[in-house]
Amino acid sequence: MPEVFVSRIDDFAEGDRRIVFHGGLEIGVFHWQGTYYAYENQCLHQGGPCCEGVIMHKVEDVLAPDKTWLGQRFSADEAHFVCPWHGYEYDIRTGECVGNRKLRLKSFEVLRRGDDLYVVAS
Ligand code: FES
Repeated sequence: MPEVFVSRIDDFAEGDRRIVFHGGLEIGVFHWQGTYYAYENQCLHQGGPCCEGVIMHKVEDVLAPDKTWLGQRFSADEAHFVCPWHGYEYDIRTGECVGNRKLRLKSFEVLRRGDDLYVVAS
């Protein structure tokens, strides 16, 4: 299976992303909290470039023990990237659409070879 060069590791900062191309395939690669994730850059809604959207932490409701709403905060653990066309959000760690977790972007293996990163475009 073809391995597509993504970046030198030193050039790929935490929280950054790359879009790589192989044939007609576009793959978004994310560097998030020490791990690399790669997904097809094609939104499950209408095919938009979902991996190119803003990255943001999940917004969570804060509830008191009696379930009274206290406000909102950003999650420390979960982050999403947001399709720029109509706002579908995807979990950066799984590629799941957070509005319906049965939907998931196609994912790709990310390989480290020395100081370089590659995705396996299969
Ligand atoms: S194409 Fe991505 S939200 Fe519509």
